[in-house]
Amino acid sequence: MNITVSAPGKLMLFGEHAVVYDRPCLVTAVDQRMRAAVELTTEKLFILDAPEVNISGHQRSMSELGKGVIPKGAQFVEIAVKNFIEKYPMSGGVNVVTSSDFSPQFGFGSSSASTVCVLKALSELSGKKLDAKQLFDLAYKTVLDVQGKGSGFDVAAAIFGGSLYFVTGGKAIEPLPIGDIPLVIGYTGVKADTVTLMAAVSKKMNAQPERVGRIYDAITKLTEEAKVKLLEGDWERVGTLMNFNQDYLRDLGVSSEKLEALIAAAKEGGAWGAKLSGAGGGDCMIAVASGETLPTVEDAIAKVGGQVIHISVKASGVRVETDDQKELFVVVDRNDNVLDYKPRSVCNSDKTLIHRAVELLILNSKGQVLLQKRSMSKDTRPGWWSTSVGGHVGKGESYEDAMQREIQEELGIEIPFTFHSKHVVEFPYETEMEALFTAKYDGPFQPHPHEVDEVKFFDKREVAFGIASHTLQLSEAAIHNLKVLGII
Ligand code: MEV
Repeated sequence: MNITVSAPGKLMLFGEHAVVYDRPCLVTAVDQRMRAAVELTTEKLFILDAPEVNISGHQRSMSELGKGVIPKGAQFVEIAVKNFIEKYPMSGGVNVVTSSDFSPQFGFGSSSASTVCVLKALSELSGKKLDAKQLFDLAYKTVLDVQGKGSGFDVAAAIFGGSLYFVTGGKAIEPLPIGDIPLVIGYTGVKADTVTLMAAVSKKMNAQPERVGRIYDAITKLTEEAKVKLLEGDWERVGTLMNFNQDYLRDLGVSSEKLEALIAAAKEGGAWGAKLSGAGGGDCMIAVASGETLPTVEDAIAKVGGQVIHISVKASGVRVETDDQKELFVVVDRNDNVLDYKPRSVCNSDKTLIHRAVELLILNSKGQVLLQKRSMSKDTRPGWWSTSVGGHVGKGESYEDAMQREIQEELGIEIPFTFHSKHVVEFPYETEMEALFTAKYDGPFQPHPHEVDEVKFFDKREVAFGIASHTLQLSEAAIHNLKVLGII
């Protein structure tokens, strides 16, 4: 019995540190995910492989979970399994293999996301089917068991996805219907230690309770306003509020020279505002910027040594993966010579592995182009608009075989198609050798509900307007291929 579950990483928008002390924060999930493949076994053993944190073959008897010294990278998952079986006893053992779209260095919450993945997987495999609140309580307990302190906001982001208004320990978890946020993210190159930073803040609080209390009051006030302004899409004010929040975080002593350099650069580059995101001391900073200034802000951050990270914030919460992560993809060199075969999970998170993919653009008799809205259950770019059909080439398939299969799977039709061109396309998280095909067809379609949310013909002006006004969130593959065909 095995299952793969994924959960998104997170970014703190407003209210870090204050949220540890019964205050609100605003958090958003990011479309880079942690994954856990979990298997129930008959032997009473817990085995963990977590290559992203250098854990290989970590083993424990199920009755010894949580006892003695646990290697750092294994703590959250081992304690999560322990907490689950204490509440819902199981007779056998558990095998866990985790993988990640993002580096655990960034502070996107890889530990909480893997905790959530493992608990969700155990809940499904054992048939207990915990609801979101039960899952939150067990995952939050795990965080407290491991690090002693914490608000649980990262666990909530991993479970619910999207953007949330959150109060300590899940006293409030309110999903906010915010579309995309024009965020720029810069990584300092320094891994922050949340536990140490929380301890430093707690020490300060004990020494100067009134002063720190006033800082928390001020952060609470601006977080409440930021909630309204985020919902209104008033990015300029959101930026100003970020600057205020950063002033208070600096007063708390959690900023760092590197963070300040990146924040100053972002503001000089034209951002409306910028702040650290998370515990401080390193990890990432965030800035909000208009579409036109975005590239300048990114350049400014990179110039002072920051690593710009591209993410989208419309990420779905924890889910059981239905895309078969073990499906083997065809890995090629830049001339499309086959080098190797690797699983989906590896290819989709390693930019050095160029793998074969197919894309189709269908045009109707009015010259309009068919776009599809990807289903929320897809493991990459859920909910985004993309080409008419797209997918990967599996081991043993030609580009044409894969195209025919994907058209059938996604749109429920069989139509003739023509090869247009082939090119290497680099995405923030993967690199593909894409064969672009075109077809002429007016419909009808029978989109597969698991793969596709909606399909729609767009005329060229509609696509151009949607991109310019940020009302059409197009995948990188769609933008690339629409450009190749001269549609945009
Ligand atoms: C760390 O990313 C954010 C803190 O507020 C801790 C927490 O909320 O658990 C410092």
